[in-house]
Amino acid sequence: MYNTQKVTSDISWVGASDRTLELFENIFPIPRGVSYNSYILLDKKVVLFDTVDSHAGGQFFENVEHVLAGRVPDYLVVNHMEPDHCAMLGEVVRRYPDIQIVGNAKTFTMIKQFFGTDFSERAVTVKEGDTLDTGTHTLRFVMAPMVHWPEAMVTYDETDKVLFSADAFGTFGALGGNIFADQVSFDRDWLDDARRYYANIVGKYGPSVQALLKKAATLDIAVICPLHGPVWRQNIDYILEKYGKWSTYEPEEKAVVIIYASMYGNTASAADALAGALAERGIPDIAVYDISHTHVSELISEIFRASHLVLAAPTYNAGLYPLMENLLADMKALAVQKRTVALIENGTWAATAAKQMREKLGELKSITVPDVQVTVKSALGAGQEAELMALAETLAADFR
Ligand code: FEO
Repeated sequence: MYNTQKVTSDISWVGASDRTLELFENIFPIPRGVSYNSYILLDKKVVLFDTVDSHAGGQFFENVEHVLAGRVPDYLVVNHMEPDHCAMLGEVVRRYPDIQIVGNAKTFTMIKQFFGTDFSERAVTVKEGDTLDTGTHTLRFVMAPMVHWPEAMVTYDETDKVLFSADAFGTFGALGGNIFADQVSFDRDWLDDARRYYANIVGKYGPSVQALLKKAATLDIAVICPLHGPVWRQNIDYILEKYGKWSTYEPEEKAVVIIYASMYGNTASAADALAGALAERGIPDIAVYDISHTHVSELISEIFRASHLVLAAPTYNAGLYPLMENLLADMKALAVQKRTVALIENGTWAATAAKQMREKLGELKSITVPDVQVTVKSALGAGQEAELMALAETLAADFR
C-alpha cells in the first residue's frame, strides 16, 4: 500500500521506514529503525529528489507511482550518493528511460563507480549556485562537500522555500506517520537519536557543517527536508541551533558523563562513588555508563552532549582496556574537543591506564585533563576517600 504525504502543495514525501535493519552502515544499532526520505516535486516538470536504500525499494516505487499518478519524472536530483539514498538509481532509470540525472561532477564519478556507467547521455551536471527551472519552481543547487561525503549537495526550492538538505538535519528513527518534527515530541523522543546520528555520521566534519550552515543562513528557509527522520516546517531554529553547537564541538549541556570499564566491579565501584560525591556537591543529571554494556555510538553521542567527562579504566595487557582504547580512538576520529576529562585508573600491579588515557587525550584539541586523578590498586581502599573527594571537588568547582 502506498504511504505518501504532502510537504507543500507541490512537494510530496515518498520515502520509506525500515524497522528490520539491525545495524546502520553495518555498525550502528538502530533499535528505533531509520527512514530513507525521498521527495517528489510535481510542477510542469516532475522532479524526484534522491531514492532510498535497497531494503525499501518496493515501498518507494509504490509511493512514487502513487504520487506520479501516471506522469513520469523528468529529473532525478542526486543530492547524496551513499547507497542508503542512491540504491534505486539504476531501477529509476530502467523504469523512466527518459529521466535526466542532476548532480555535480563528483556525483557522476561516484555514479560510475557504483553503477558502472555515469549515464552521460542523461547527465545534467550542476555546480554551486546553478538553477533548474521546473515551470513555477526554481531549484538552486548548493554544494555541501563532506556533509557527509565529498559529492554531497543540497537543493533549495526558491518558490516553496524548501531546503532538501541531504544528510544534514537527519536522524536515526523510523517515521510513524507523523513525518513532521512539529507532530512528535522531538526533544523527548528524537533528540538523542538526532545527536547520535550527527555525532557518529557527520561529527568528524564540523567545519564542513559550519560552511553549510553559513550558506543556509543566506536562504529564507520555511521547510527542511532531510534524507532521514522528520521534516522541519516549524521552529527550524531549534535544529539549526543544535547543529551550531555540535559542529563547533561546543558542549550542548553543562553536565557530567562518567564512562567506566570494569572487569570485576572495582573500577565500577570507584566510578559510582565519584558519581555519588558529585551528586552530594549539587551536580544534577549525572550519567554513568558501563563501556561494556553501552554501544560506543551512544557514548560518543553523550560525549557530544556533555561538558565534563570522567573516564575510568584498568590497565590491560600493559595497554588500555580495549573498549576504552576504542572509545578514545573514536573520540579522536570524530574530532571531539572542548571538554574537561577527569581520569580514574585501576591496576593491580601496573596502574598505567591514566597515563595512557592522558597521552591519547593529548592528541585531541582543547581537552582539559585535571592533574587530580584517582589511582585504584585492585579495589578502592577506605583510605583513598580523600583522593576521590579531591577529584569530585575539582569537577564540582566548574559547576559553581
Ligand atoms: Fe544517509 Fe551519508 O547517507
